[in-house]
Amino acid sequence: MNLVILGAQWGDEGKGKIVDLLSAEYEVVVRYQGGSNAGHTVMVNGQKFILHLLPTGILHTHTVGVIAQGMVVDLELLVEEIKQIESKGISVRDRLLISDRAHLVLPYHKTLDALLEKRGKIGTTLRGIGPAYMLKYARKGARVCDLWDKDRFYSIIKDNLEFVEELCKKVYCEDFQMKVDEVVDRALESFEEIKHCITDTSSYLLNTKKSILFEGAQGTLLDVDIGTYPYVTSSNSSALGLSAGTGLPPKFFSNAKFIGVSKAYATRVGEGPFPTELKDEVGQLLREKGKEYGATTGRPRRCGWLDLVALKHAVDLNGLDGIVLTKLDVLDGFGEIKVCTAYRVEDKVFKNFPASLSLLEKAQPVYECFEGWKESTYGITNYKDIPEKAMNYIQFIERFLGAPIVMLSTSPERDKYIWLSEIIHGRKVASSDIC
Ligand code: IMP
Repeated sequence: MNLVILGAQWGDEGKGKIVDLLSAEYEVVVRYQGGSNAGHTVMVNGQKFILHLLPTGILHTHTVGVIAQGMVVDLELLVEEIKQIESKGISVRDRLLISDRAHLVLPYHKTLDALLEKRGKIGTTLRGIGPAYMLKYARKGARVCDLWDKDRFYSIIKDNLEFVEELCKKVYCEDFQMKVDEVVDRALESFEEIKHCITDTSSYLLNTKKSILFEGAQGTLLDVDIGTYPYVTSSNSSALGLSAGTGLPPKFFSNAKFIGVSKAYATRVGEGPFPTELKDEVGQLLREKGKEYGATTGRPRRCGWLDLVALKHAVDLNGLDGIVLTKLDVLDGFGEIKVCTAYRVEDKVFKNFPASLSLLEKAQPVYECFEGWKESTYGITNYKDIPEKAMNYIQFIERFLGAPIVMLSTSPERDKYIWLSEIIHGRKVASSDIC
């Protein structure tokens, strides 16, 4: 049975570790949207790996890694990332497949990202992601397959650079100069390093008999269609992106299991509405205890209480079969823990996640309060060690969401987790045993 792992909040939920852990049981691991804006951190034997473009599951040497068509790929960074992992003794290029339909991120996309940020701040990662998707949908993008035909590639880049130059001059009153030959040569240099990995990945995925794990990047609330638009990323980072991003028919996923990853509290980086954000010392404490600094940009993350209105939105629209809850230990020692169950805007109460930015910006969280626990949950691996008060918190979340919490991740290390419920395959513990 195939498995889909998605971020259920604003990204940075700890998907890296979960994918790394679960991909031990899968043969193919796939990334299908976003690009180097992602930063999946994994600790293996005390060694820290941060993956931006490669599927995290590639750290297991038995897997085939796929970069599918919905991604936007910065080839220079990809080659760098591959070489870094290979330098640690893990082979990559002999088991990596890169879609010939994926779009490229090139230096001018990053220039444009910075310029767009000057005009209306989203707080992007400045990795050129938005502009790469922008030119893709404007039907001007350069794809991986174009690199096979140098003349064609050259003319796409020439056209792109003329377009960007004009945009910079006329809209932003900024000078822009980038040489076609330089952009082309740099891209071709990287292409030489990975060209034997390029293939029709949809066809591979459709025909393989191997078990597949699909790795979502970012999170549902950053999805361009169902997230906090316009403060989102430029791809479908929810389950909505699976079919287009992999090039597989929707019914391919009808038997897959869908798992969402959520922290026991909430964070977001960049701008945009965040109803449960704590701008006080409690938020500061969450940031320090949770080491909430971006893996890609190093920016401090905004922190707040768990928002169940937003999480329920993610459960419903992704069709989640279960949730993996991460970083519960960050809440250890808090006297009181709050969780948002509705939003109040003036005299109206909202139980559903609103589309309107005006509503989201005004939304005041309605909280349910829980007594905290004193015991440490850091690194525990036995469900009997979960404090009763922590279990009350977990069970409240499950009841509210109507979806089980299937696993707790209790530290960044690969082996520190607890299965709570059997939904993927072969897990021994049922949540009913725990009550
Ligand atoms: P972009 O994807 O770089 O265009 O950034 C758009 C928004 O998504 C910004 O608020 C970023 O901080 C956020 N974002 C993008 N990738 C990630 C991620 O992997 N984790 C968390 N936030 C992200």
